[in-house]
Amino acid sequence: MGKVTISTLDRMKAAGEKFVCITAYDATFARLVNEAGAETILVGDSLGMVLQGHDSTIPVTVDDMAYHTACVARAGGDALVIADLPFMSYDRLETALDSATALMQAGAQMVKLEGGVWLSDTISALVERGIPVCAHLGLTPQSVNAFGGFKVQGRTPKEAKSILADAVEIQDAGAAVLVLECVPAPLAADISSKLDIPVIGIGAGAGTDAQVLVLHDLLGLSPRVPRFVRNFMTDGASVQGALAAFVAAVKASEFPAEDHTYA
Ligand code: KIV
Ligand code: NA
Repeated sequence: MGKVTISTLDRMKAAGEKFVCITAYDATFARLVNEAGAETILVGDSLGMVLQGHDSTIPVTVDDMAYHTACVARAGGDALVIADLPFMSYDRLETALDSATALMQAGAQMVKLEGGVWLSDTISALVERGIPVCAHLGLTPQSVNAFGGFKVQGRTPKEAKSILADAVEIQDAGAAVLVLECVPAPLAADISSKLDIPVIGIGAGAGTDAQVLVLHDLLGLSPRVPRFVRNFMTDGASVQGALAAFVAAVKASEFPAEDHTYA
């Protein structure tokens, strides 16, 4: 495949070729995700839940993220490494620059942050300094307390309009990629077609340019999983097989299916 860059992802979107993102938090799984042919690896702050045992991503620190990003980066491989900026590590421009510096120096090739319009200046400042940015809209887990739970977002016309406006704004600010989480499939498809930048969906239906799942969820290791998750161990019969089955299902537009989607 050759080293994946933001140009690769742009090219794939333009060609209508789906790409794949899988979370990883250590060198072994990062190697397996690379071997499965995923174009991108997300060192997600979901590690607060699946590794650290917290019930949200809020306790995760920049030091935690830098440690796991360095572990993943040591695996090498062609996949583009995206690392999450954790809760309150980008609340002000100064903190955002310091936090993003730590993750880039740990081996990230892009940083991800949760939010829309309010982050415009932060996104521009990061991009101007050479740090590619992935924005994250819809169900942004760092705001779980403000949402009153892990709930689908964008169900009302007003909410949908605001998510679309945020998406356009973060693209204008210079974001290279957008993650859309837990929004109705028609909204995600609409945003994906309106934006030039690639959109990675999770619980957002089949109409996005790419799909991401949390590693532990797709391996069937999580005790409770949301509607949008499929256990790929049943197809794969091994960790390697499950990762390959997920990659293949996304590329063939077989995942997500109707029953993984919010209407
Ligand atoms: O932290 C994470 O794993 C994420 C994905 C679910 C998009 O942000
Ligand atoms: Na995250």
